[in-house]
Amino acid sequence: MMDNDRIISANLMMEDSAVEYSLRPRYLAEYIGQKQAKENLKIYIEAAKQRKEALDHVLLYGPPGLGKTTLSNIIANELGVNIRTTSGPAIERPGDLAAILTNLQEGDVLFIDEIHRLHRTVEEVLYPAMEDYALDIIIGKGPSARSVRLDLPAFTLIGATTRVGLLSAPLRDRFGVVSRLEFYTVDELSYIVSRTADILQVGIVGEAAREIGMRSRGTPRIANRLLKRVRDFAQVKGDGIITMELARESLRLLQVDDLGLDEIDHKMLRAIILSFQGGPVGLETIAATIGEESQTIEDVYEPYLLQIGFMQRTPRGRMVTPQAYHHLGLPLPEPK
Ligand SMILES: Nc1ncnc2c1ncn2[C@@H]1O[C@H](COP(=O)(O)OP(=O)(O)OP(=O)(O)O)[C@@H](O)[C@H]1O
Ligand SMILES: [Mg+2]
Repeated sequence: MMDNDRIISANLMMEDSAVEYSLRPRYLAEYIGQKQAKENLKIYIEAAKQRKEALDHVLLYGPPGLGKTTLSNIIANELGVNIRTTSGPAIERPGDLAAILTNLQEGDVLFIDEIHRLHRTVEEVLYPAMEDYALDIIIGKGPSARSVRLDLPAFTLIGATTRVGLLSAPLRDRFGVVSRLEFYTVDELSYIVSRTADILQVGIVGEAAREIGMRSRGTPRIANRLLKRVRDFAQVKGDGIITMELARESLRLLQVDDLGLDEIDHKMLRAIILSFQGGPVGLETIAATIGEESQTIEDVYEPYLLQIGFMQRTPRGRMVTPQAYHHLGLPLPEPK
């Protein structure tokens, strides 16, 4: 199964997009959780507004679906400026970036998603742009070629990435504000589920919202998606109100267990336990064994399993912890 078929995939799927827009909080005050990032940004935004200057460049990183895009839009909104959105792979040539930069207005936000995928040649255009709000262009060819410096409006670059480790050091160093988004707590996710239910105008009891929150892998995008599926069950099988019983039953049918793990997580953990005595085993070997891409495992499945302490990364590979054995109901191996 491809990751994008999974109900608990943190990646954006087609079905999310229709209502995605209306569910996105628009102001910092509506943005739940991420206390640390929010508190810092609030101060920086306020200070930039008082000085009537562009906000320093911001780098947001963390696993998919935690709210990087949402937060970027909120920052522009709070600053009261325009946001221009693009992504690393979409900017093919230096000229493309130059065109975007010269079209910005004073104070605008330029949001580059998947910034770790910028082409090297494009990245080099970004350095003087970020540092001096300047664009160096080469005019002419051969010995008569000369470099001309163009001024750009003061702008704020917001970069988002799920893989901060892939960013080059010179690029990373040019961000004044670097924020890591964290997985959300069950309380925060329950709140997000209730808020979304409100927007979708579907009734849900508090404990059912909590049940969905508990199974959302710390990720708002998954929480919203599970809610939408459960709502369908409530509509067809119940009287439209999401009760605890209904939530539990629909999540069971969706094959999402009480920690938010699905059959792929189970398959992976079992494979490490049954074929490799619990590890350590290399990422590539795991990928080959369960027929998944190693990058998908690293970006999508593994972060949550690490977070809940079911897996560990060691220099010799991945290991499954006793908690995972316990959750799967498998006996621990005999000590060697
Ligand atoms: N703090 C939050 N409060 C409420 N809802 C949130 C919050 N963060 C994210 N969401 C919801 O989760 C969904 C996913 O968020 P978003 O698209 O911003 O994630 P992302 O980190 O950009 O993901 P990706 O890495 O896939 O680009 C949004 O539709 C939004 O409704
Ligand atoms: Mg995004």
